[in-house]
Amino acid sequence: MSDSAAREALCRMGERLYTRGLVHGTAGNLSLRVEDGWLVTPTNTCLGELDPARLSRLDADGRFIGGDKPSKEAFLHTSVYAVRPDAEAIIHTHSTHSVAVSCLDHPEGCPVLPPLTAYYIMRVGELALVPYYRPGDERLADAVRDAAIKHACVLLANHGPVIAGKGLNEALYALEELEETAKIHLLLEGRKTRPLTPEAVAELLAG
Ligand code: 13P
Repeated sequence: MSDSAAREALCRMGERLYTRGLVHGTAGNLSLRVEDGWLVTPTNTCLGELDPARLSRLDADGRFIGGDKPSKEAFLHTSVYAVRPDAEAIIHTHSTHSVAVSCLDHPEGCPVLPPLTAYYIMRVGELALVPYYRPGDERLADAVRDAAIKHACVLLANHGPVIAGKGLNEALYALEELEETAKIHLLLEGRKTRPLTPEAVAELLAG
């Protein structure tokens, strides 16, 4: 993909997320792998109003080399790319239902969300929960890197999801599935549910 096509794709994705109500205000950030580095959304920018010419450019070592000042969480993205060589794009949002789930008290060893539907397992797989750190806190890098080794989808406690994909669309579809499943989970609160069996989950994870 050419530099200009990558810039256009990142801006279009920001607009899509904004139109879908998956981001609001200046919350969230995006990145896309390009030749010799990454394009990252600038800090304090509304993802619905990105300017292709002003996107931040990082080199292959994650150093800021051009455009507006990058997201204060660019390091989050580069630490995921460091352990997921197949990842081409990352989406981080503060999507409402996913954030609500990130604020629940999750017992150790239990899945963050129960395996309610096949599509959740197919698109999100096993969701990792990373303990809370202030947005921009560099200690998040280690925690997210560790979680991302095995998980393409990570939920930051009291904050929101970080989703890696082979492309922007794959990351978007996983984010949308996570957000809808979080909504379903909250809708079902207090009701007796019938999650998928471990065998059914294993079958879906095996592809
Ligand atoms: P940036 O504006 O620096 O990208 O931060 C937004 C955000 O989502 C913080 O969690």
